[in-house]
Amino acid sequence: MKIKGFKRKGSILMAIILAMLSLTFGQLPKRASAEAVLPGAIATDFEDGTVQGWYGRGGSEILTAAAPAAHTGAYGLQVEGRTQGWHGPQLDVTPIMEAGKTYSISAWLRLSAGSANTSVSMTIQRTAGGSTYYEGVASGQAAAGGWVKLTGEYKLLESSEKVSVYFESFANPTLAFYVDDFLIQRSPDPVPIEIQKDIPSLKDVFAGDFKLGSAFLVSEIADPDGPDAQLLKKHFNSLTAGNELKWDATEPQEGQFNFTRADKAFHFAVDNGIDFRGHTLVWHSQTPDWVFHDANGSLASKELLLQRLKRHIDTVVERYKGSIYAWDVVNEVIDPSQPGGMRGSLWYQIAGEEYIEKAFEYAHAADPAAKLYINDYNTHEPLKRQFLHDLIKRLKDKGIPVDGVGHQMHIDIQNPSVQEIDATIRTFTDLAVEQQITEMDMSSYTNGTDSWSSFPVDLQIRQAHRYKEIFDVFKKYKDQITAVIFWGKDDGNSWLRTFPVTRNNWPLLFDERLQAKYAYWGLVDPGKVPVEIKHAAAAAGSANVDGTLEEDWGRIAPVPVLKAGESAAEFRTLWDADHLYVSVDVFDTTVNGNDAVEVYIDGNNGKTTAYEADDKKYTFRRSGANPHEPADYKAVKIEGGYRIEAAIPIDGGELGFDVRLVDRSGDVETKTSWNDTTGSQDTDTSKFGVLMLVEGPRITTAVEGTPVIDGSIDAVWNGANAVATDRWVIGSSGSTAKVRTLWDDGRLYVLAEVTDALLSKRSANAWEQDSVEIFIDSNNAKTGFFEPDDGQYRINFDNERTVNPASLSGNLISAVQLTAAGYVVEASIAWTGTPQAGDTIGFDLQVNNDEDGDGDRDSVAIWNDISGQSYQNTSGYGLLKLAEAE
Ligand code: XIL
Repeated sequence: MKIKGFKRKGSILMAIILAMLSLTFGQLPKRASAEAVLPGAIATDFEDGTVQGWYGRGGSEILTAAAPAAHTGAYGLQVEGRTQGWHGPQLDVTPIMEAGKTYSISAWLRLSAGSANTSVSMTIQRTAGGSTYYEGVASGQAAAGGWVKLTGEYKLLESSEKVSVYFESFANPTLAFYVDDFLIQRSPDPVPIEIQKDIPSLKDVFAGDFKLGSAFLVSEIADPDGPDAQLLKKHFNSLTAGNELKWDATEPQEGQFNFTRADKAFHFAVDNGIDFRGHTLVWHSQTPDWVFHDANGSLASKELLLQRLKRHIDTVVERYKGSIYAWDVVNEVIDPSQPGGMRGSLWYQIAGEEYIEKAFEYAHAADPAAKLYINDYNTHEPLKRQFLHDLIKRLKDKGIPVDGVGHQMHIDIQNPSVQEIDATIRTFTDLAVEQQITEMDMSSYTNGTDSWSSFPVDLQIRQAHRYKEIFDVFKKYKDQITAVIFWGKDDGNSWLRTFPVTRNNWPLLFDERLQAKYAYWGLVDPGKVPVEIKHAAAAAGSANVDGTLEEDWGRIAPVPVLKAGESAAEFRTLWDADHLYVSVDVFDTTVNGNDAVEVYIDGNNGKTTAYEADDKKYTFRRSGANPHEPADYKAVKIEGGYRIEAAIPIDGGELGFDVRLVDRSGDVETKTSWNDTTGSQDTDTSKFGVLMLVEGPRITTAVEGTPVIDGSIDAVWNGANAVATDRWVIGSSGSTAKVRTLWDDGRLYVLAEVTDALLSKRSANAWEQDSVEIFIDSNNAKTGFFEPDDGQYRINFDNERTVNPASLSGNLISAVQLTAAGYVVEASIAWTGTPQAGDTIGFDLQVNNDEDGDGDRDSVAIWNDISGQSYQNTSGYGLLKLAEAE
């Protein structure tokens, strides 16, 4: 079983979105007393028989004050003659709009008789600094049978030349509808925000390590002395414009440059003595379409594209020459699912890798002093970071002026692991480039569907500890890393509030009111953060206390004990009726007679501030002294340190548990704890972690045999063991498979007989098509990330294959046959290692299913690992034991 200590069942996303839009469904028409209208509001009720300032957006609309359109009174606004989705009534509200203020906007809507229910939305259109913005306020299903009220809150972030409200329906371009009782008015002013002036500035805390930065939008500094601006000035010595220097902002039309917003961002930084970073010159996103097309609308030639690239870079980079200290020259150019690892953007399609080389050359010519970066996300993925590493190497070998690699570091509360981040930074140390963390934030969610109304306290604490653990890694590499930059400063302004879906999120160090969170204190003064109660699992199994790890130890993933960015030890636990078996591998090369592992057990997980009868401390010495006291144990030497293996008597249940390493070196003794980092274990059990005694992974046996891969079930399969995918990762019913396995020296064979009533591959995403996925962890290391021996092999009902990492694609052979009940996949996968009879590997099989054929995944059934993380974390896989031929 997977430990999901901090997973929350959120209310479904839709409910949240509806709640956020405060959408309420109205009753049938009745005369309601008019809402209180405050001074400075605009209310239109059409009772004078006129349209009261509303006009058609498209020009073709016919707007009339008409009786059938009345929600209250005698008249409402009738909207007819629409021919486009964006057509509809619009009203100028500029006179009452003030920057920084929040407004509530509402109206009643109904469709003309005979129309089917249709989605209608209410949107703000505004113009500021020459650009036009469309900002959704509310939307909902309108009906002919009754009135619906659309209500939303809207905050005007910056002063704008023109602001208007309009209604449209993209779902039905010719829809006729009625609007009545429209009201926009200012919401009461919230309590003014004040930043904490007396807490340490982040930039000072990390002054000896690296620059500390933040991204921001010009809307946040509309008031250059307001609290948002104050927070930026107090804490950061590197600033990045979040959107203002992207191509769509600086050169929206060919040759027409607009630096209004970019200059604002830039001046805010430099006028306040803060270093400024440029983001970004070349990207596949937020880049106007004209860049890639010629006058005829055909794809631009390479010559034309590079000419445009040069003019863009010359103009933008020269404008800030000498003042922007680093540029993200290219952004997100790697795609590990491509055979060569390069993203197939229009840039690449037209110019191949040359667009990258030229971008760096042009940027260097335009500002020789600026540090030039290649920036990307998910650089922790082993294959992706290897492609990125190799690209930088190729560029440098050719003399292209690349100075740095930027890790965006958009991570979440759980993934990737700290060790993976460590390995990521390490990967680039041989290239003689600087490294920066360019866009760090930490989503509170591990998927795209959960959504919570407030941030659970245990997650606030988890986030603080995780930030600290990761910054410990950054500090370890401070000779490599020149800046760590957050993507935003506070939770309220984070892009994760609208990406990948609209929901609350709390990814940064300061909350919506700009107050320091635990996450801030985790970096500044960890003692101010409550101890996190971690959860680990012990699997059912037993062990000989001899210092060697027999087969059962492969049932459980090792848990790291972290110290200053390093794993100081790893422990595993097993349990049976009488004992808890603990093995701890300590990585400590200096042998000292006083080195020891202390194990703490709170038998009833009582979490008391004083010891009770069930609370015990066990000290196991590196020297192996007193091997039966206080419990049977053995100490042995391992590479880089020592191992303790012990059998501790227990009664079962859930245990309070902690491991503390005692490292004596000369006169100095250091203690490092898994859970209670305050070191109060000897007297207090309240800060122990929790050890859950779980069953552990399922196991099955593959017998030896070699089938023909043709999708028909040879006789050799008759001797194979079968298992079922009867656990659910998504949904609770749908397509499942009976799974059999065979193996020989060269390969693993998998037969999946899938029951699936409707075969669909409508989605463009392979994982949403009806398919099976085979997961293999050949060395059963149960890691929080993929090692080179790990692979994910996906085969859909049309025998189309996708393999992660793509470099293992050559290992997979498969055949599929459709059956009355669904389809049969027969697959053969070459071993990444050389497993022997008797070995146990990590193995799982999942069935993806688009139940109704509409192009999304409705169910995922799996044999063992319900974490939903199997594609990047092998620790939850089931076990497959390789048996010898009978
Ligand atoms: C994001 C901005 O924060 C959003 O406001 C915008 O709508 C989309 O882009 N990687 C990047 C950044 O390199 O440029 C992105 O910024 C976030 C992901």
